[in-house]
Amino acid sequence: MADLIAPAQRPANPRFSSGPCAKVPGFTLDQLADAPLGRSHRAAVGKAKLKQAIDLTRDILGVPADYRIGIVPGSDTGAVEMAMWSLLGARPVEMLAWESFGEGWVTDVVKQLKLDATVKKAAYGEIVDLATVDFDKDVVFTWNGTTSGVRVANGDAIPADRAGLTICDATSAAFAMDLPWDKLDVVTFSWQKVLGGEGAHGMLILSPRAVERLESYTPAWPLPKIFRLTSKGKLIEGIFVGETINTPSMLAVEDYLVALNWAKSVGGLQGLIDRATANAQVVWEFCAANPWLQNLAVNPANASTTSVCLKFADPRITDGATFAKNVAKRLEKEGVALDVGAYRDAPAGLRIWCGSTVETADVQALMPWIAYAFEAEIAALAKAA
Ligand SMILES: Cc1ncc(COP(=O)(O)O)c(C=O)c1O
Repeated sequence: MADLIAPAQRPANPRFSSGPCAKVPGFTLDQLADAPLGRSHRAAVGKAKLKQAIDLTRDILGVPADYRIGIVPGSDTGAVEMAMWSLLGARPVEMLAWESFGEGWVTDVVKQLKLDATVKKAAYGEIVDLATVDFDKDVVFTWNGTTSGVRVANGDAIPADRAGLTICDATSAAFAMDLPWDKLDVVTFSWQKVLGGEGAHGMLILSPRAVERLESYTPAWPLPKIFRLTSKGKLIEGIFVGETINTPSMLAVEDYLVALNWAKSVGGLQGLIDRATANAQVVWEFCAANPWLQNLAVNPANASTTSVCLKFADPRITDGATFAKNVAKRLEKEGVALDVGAYRDAPAGLRIWCGSTVETADVQALMPWIAYAFEAEIAALAKAA
């Protein structure tokens, strides 16, 4: 311990949380000054802001013109639940999970909706092979497993002429990864992830086939008002132009607009993807040079570029969970990395958010600190023995 020297440089921003994620670089509350606070969200000014949020989302993500984009309550969870409750039950269902949020959707479908779904799960670090999936069923899956650091590499295995709907929780993927819109019927995400926005609102994107299902199928179970997307068998089109189901936070909307405009300023979708990839690359290279730190993702083709999950591999570590927690605590105490402990249900380790709002220089500055904290904890183990 005595010879350990703390790195000279610190990340300028130690925020590496996987949600809510770092705000856009240079963010200040002054940037929200144009929020129409104290005004009705149904007044022209409010509606215009909500519509602008939808239009900019479409523009940046390249969402096809015939897909609907709605702002809904309940963050990403609200959007996923709304989709599952409104669409499932019409045909057989296949549920895919490779981490805790996907497992949550399985529980909802099997235990709450009580559907006799086919369930395919992969262990943390692995992924279900999409080639084994029957896309003539409705398929629910998570594009990027935020708690396992594993993502779908591409949508090639999803047939264009599938009979089922694909319902994709893309909350930690949207804006940082390419999403193949023609292969996805429902895409959800929240503002608090890749763009560093606020929680509370979810985005629900529907393909024409998803809308067709909504207008032709009525679930056997009751739907609360907060989930209802149709009225008298027709889609409520207003939801998809900014007439939200209930009252949104116009402060959060303004904040999302700030993030969307920043996204445009860094080159739009490709710029955002490149930023996340460059960040993840720094961590991958650090792991390659330091075998005591390993990516939880088994196959590099599926390694996340946003939620990079890491495990320690050193024979001197006997209690992996305590060790990882102590490293995370030390990084936090040093003020160099906040909220980087692995998710509570995931294998012990670290999770470094590498999404687009994080600066690559900060990830670079963090790496020597991880080595420092690791060595310090190993030394503490030796001292205690
Ligand atoms: C994959 C995934 N799905 C769902 C959620 C829940 O998102 P929210 O809290 O925005 O509803 C998260 C949050 O981290 C997530 O990572």
